[in-house]
Amino acid sequence: MIEIKKLNKTFGACRALNDLDITVKPGEIFGFLGPNGAGKTTAVKIISGILRPTSGTVCIGGYDILDDTIKAKRTLAYIPDEPFVYPKLTGYEFLRFIGDIYKVPFSYQKSEIPVLLKLFDLSAFTHELLETYSHGMKQKLLIAGVLLRRPKVLLFDEPTVGLDPKSIKKFKDILSDLAKKGTTIFMCTHILEMAQKLCTKIAIVNFGRLIAEGTMSDLKRIASIDADGDHSLENIFLKLTDSEF
Ligand SMILES: Nc1ncnc2c1ncn2[C@@H]1O[C@H](COP(=O)(O)OP(=O)(O)OP(=O)(O)O)[C@@H](O)[C@H]1O
Ligand SMILES: [Mg+2]
Repeated sequence: MIEIKKLNKTFGACRALNDLDITVKPGEIFGFLGPNGAGKTTAVKIISGILRPTSGTVCIGGYDILDDTIKAKRTLAYIPDEPFVYPKLTGYEFLRFIGDIYKVPFSYQKSEIPVLLKLFDLSAFTHELLETYSHGMKQKLLIAGVLLRRPKVLLFDEPTVGLDPKSIKKFKDILSDLAKKGTTIFMCTHILEMAQKLCTKIAIVNFGRLIAEGTMSDLKRIASIDADGDHSLENIFLKLTDSEF
């Protein structure tokens, strides 16, 4: 569903991505991990078509993000680390706007929007301007917008930053449920406990290079964790990223 080949991105002297190769299959929850500045946001911006790569290719559901941009973008949804919403729209208007530009039938929008707002405890703010929403409320509204669209591929950059514990639990349940139904999820996160529990596959990048990829058992093997050693993703992550220095 997501095919990244020999992806490179340089910003002046900074090599943010270095020959990145990643394949994500349908229904996978793919955790994309790495220290600050490793290149995660750069990668996810290129995958979503916001940033042009220096070289390399990205295909979403078989559509090249540079050659078949509209079809690729129709297949995916991207939730950035800093939620952007139009300040002078209300929560309801924003969801109607998303629904209309992605051609979600009006009858479905009418029945689903109140359900989604309720799901994220936003019903009381349905008709409030988004400039009055908190960071977490904006993030939840963006997630609600994505659920209204039901795209095949979801790209999240630090999705749970700003969410309260109840919303995080709800978010994790929604992701598991969507993945079971075939949605492909690609997620950058620093919350290793969440990645360990939720992700079916994990990739670790450091200095723009892929240093490990696979299931939790693959990563344990790659990090050479002893049978009686600490098998947590935190320990694996620290071991693998430390050896790069
Ligand atoms: N627009 C830009 N101009 C110059 N350098 C950039 C730009 N965007 C990113 N970089 C550099 O590219 C590298 C990767 O940054 P990126 O934001 O992708 O990291 P990240 O893995 O998302 O980090 P974090 O965990 O802090 O979010 C960093 O060295 C950063 O300074
Ligand atoms: Mg980032």
